[in-house]
Amino acid sequence: MEAGGGGRAVVRPSPRLRGRLRVPGDKSITHRALLIGALAEGQSLVEGGSDGLDCNSTAACLTALGVRIERLGEAPGGRIDRRIRSPGRAGLRLEPGQILDCGNSGTTLRLLAGVLAGTSLQALLDGDASLRRRPVARIIEPLRSMGAGLSAREADTVPPLSVHGRSRLRPIDYTTRVPSAQVKSAILLAALVAEGTTTVRESVATRDHTERMLGSRGVRIEVRQGNEGERAVSVEGMMPVRAMDERVPGDLSAAAFFLVAGAAHPDAEVTIEGVGVNPTRRAVLDILRRMGADLDERTLPAQGAEPAANVTVRSSDLRGIDLGPRDVAGAIDEIPILCLAAAAARGRTVIRGATELRHKESDRLGGMAVGLAALGVPVEVEGDDLTIDGRPGGLVGTDLKALGDHRLAMTWAVAGLLAPGGTVISGAGSVDVSHPGFFADLERLHS
Ligand code: S3P
Repeated sequence: MEAGGGGRAVVRPSPRLRGRLRVPGDKSITHRALLIGALAEGQSLVEGGSDGLDCNSTAACLTALGVRIERLGEAPGGRIDRRIRSPGRAGLRLEPGQILDCGNSGTTLRLLAGVLAGTSLQALLDGDASLRRRPVARIIEPLRSMGAGLSAREADTVPPLSVHGRSRLRPIDYTTRVPSAQVKSAILLAALVAEGTTTVRESVATRDHTERMLGSRGVRIEVRQGNEGERAVSVEGMMPVRAMDERVPGDLSAAAFFLVAGAAHPDAEVTIEGVGVNPTRRAVLDILRRMGADLDERTLPAQGAEPAANVTVRSSDLRGIDLGPRDVAGAIDEIPILCLAAAAARGRTVIRGATELRHKESDRLGGMAVGLAALGVPVEVEGDDLTIDGRPGGLVGTDLKALGDHRLAMTWAVAGLLAPGGTVISGAGSVDVSHPGFFADLERLHS
């Protein structure tokens, strides 16, 4: 395997996959530990956080806002310890005219907008070409109704996003229009300065790291779960956020690539150590089990407010399944690699209601369909549904494009492990967004 810069990687099949790996710290939890650490006056340590470009974008924006963030030591396997010293929300400052560059990171942009909505600052948030195509109306609407001033390009639909904060906001009772942890979190972070209780309702439970972290830092937060999987999260405003150390578990979304590689490979046994298995994030494990994957979870002591486990995968006889909108919401970042699992499985997989995939770092629905077809897999897209006819042992090596999307680059790398002939990935350097050592880790499993 050769990998290079922003450029090309060539991945070839390996006769056996064996080994134990630690993946980078969870990206979603790292963003939150940095942002919530910045809201708390004083010192917080973030141990084992992600050193990917996305989390570094969050750290750089916070530094521009006057938060001191120090990197402690090396970053083995994309995990880094950081010390945060913050003046607290009221002490955040910004040089006039300075743009907050969120890079490729939708989480940085949307969560930071929630933080800034509750300050007396005026800020402009921007990012790369991919981020400039991603929807922001979904946060503008609720944050405006709380009293903050927000506007964006093209009739308030896409970044750059301007935020004119207020140090006191109105509480709201808001039902999200799409299942989105970013929208929910932006509202909850703004709600910390609301004069009363804010409630966010969602029809499907999305990742709850913000709720857990705020709760463990002394904020009064209540979660009510309905019978159909819907949730209501209420947070009380005007409560201080305590500075606190956080230990970040491994990123299950990063682990998913190796888990599918192991399950689909004919001779594999791979363990991912210390990975987060939060119930709102673990859908990928449950979906892989439904597909027949041989997965074994060993529970570890919780990492702060987050459950963790060692997860072992062995070669499996995968079969196609039907996935609906709830599955898509629960495994939103893992759908690309689950599509590859489907391509390597016996029978048909149908994924329904994958609309949100079109609004990620790339149009992942379109990108997956093109790439899978090039790998020789019969695939059909109809509206926002995807049908994949699996071909166990039938992928053929080819040239694939990452389209500037880290999760497509990693999906195609796993395809390269299974497809005879060599798979060439252009734009492979995008893996640095979430997993800087990805190709080295993949190489380590070859034996
Ligand atoms: C994230 C939420 C999800 C996910 C993204 C990270 C988060 O986005 O796709 O990678 O950390 O809150 P949406 O909230 O837009 O679904």
